[in-house]
Amino acid sequence: MSTAPASASGSAHAGPEAGAPAPAGTTKPLAPSFDSVTPVPVAAPAPPPAVRVDGVSKRFGAGPVVLEDVSLDIAPGEFVCLLGASGCGKSTLLNLIAGLDRPTAGRIETPDEGSAVMFQESALMPWLTARRNVELALRLRGVPRGERREKALSLLDAVNLADAAEKRPHELSGGMRQRVALARALAQDRPVLLMDEPFAALDAITRDLLHEELERVWRATGRTIVFVTHNVREAARLGQRVVLMGSRPGRIVQQWQIAKTTGRRIESPEVAALSVEITEQLRKEIRRNAA
Ligand SMILES: Nc1ncnc2c1ncn2[C@@H]1O[C@H](COP(=O)(O)OP(=O)(O)OP(=O)(O)O)[C@@H](O)[C@H]1O
Ligand SMILES: [Mg+2]
Repeated sequence: MSTAPASASGSAHAGPEAGAPAPAGTTKPLAPSFDSVTPVPVAAPAPPPAVRVDGVSKRFGAGPVVLEDVSLDIAPGEFVCLLGASGCGKSTLLNLIAGLDRPTAGRIETPDEGSAVMFQESALMPWLTARRNVELALRLRGVPRGERREKALSLLDAVNLADAAEKRPHELSGGMRQRVALARALAQDRPVLLMDEPFAALDAITRDLLHEELERVWRATGRTIVFVTHNVREAARLGQRVVLMGSRPGRIVQQWQIAKTTGRRIESPEVAALSVEITEQLRKEIRRNAA
């Protein structure tokens, strides 16, 4: 067990019984040389990461190295934004975490229950209503028929889409379709949610609303989220941690941990300040690549 220095007054004792006579049959009082040492509670061991990327490299066939020696531990319930210039390997890394492809070298560990993935395009079944799209995910998960309708409606309600449950995708706006896709991803009930630029095609106002909804869902469900974006502001707005990737080959160049994530908005001064800092690093990376 680790110990801390004695207090200045010398009044700290080792254990509750220090200084008092030990009842018969208990351990003897500590030797005098330990009398002024205060035990420090042993910190609970950190939980194992939800996602572990360990020394991962990726190359497609005989092409250039796309990812080089990427290592990243993501804690359960953490919200990580993967940020980098176009082509730096963000989607490649996300696909590897999703198990859609295999690394050339290194290891990836994810929960046994797997991950739900959400892409830029909602990829909804066009002939099914919003509710039935969500019900399909529930059916694939093995949820009994009698429970699916109610569960799907409650998931659509969670993304503020209860009123559009009986509409088909072509009757919905882009933002509404992405909400259905989010409800469908949540319906899979996986501990890890992987999102590849899910809001990139949306206008700024809709994106802003969806940021709020995603944050609310994240706080309510405790999901581990890996969110890929090339939008610096979006990363600074959403992430608990922002991981900046460099290009050719793709690798992690810098990370930012955000201490206070509550109450952030896209226009918050702290989001703006962090964006400036990240953009500066991103520009350096882009210049380095162009040289
Ligand atoms: N299946 C593949 N076969 C060959 N090369 C690929 C394959 N998938 C990706 N690449 C290459 O890997 C590199 C990284 O691509 P990736 O899609 O991961 O980038 P990205 O960071 O997601 O970019 P963007 O922001 O534009 O989506 C690119 O040079 C791309 O051409
Ligand atoms: Mg991509």
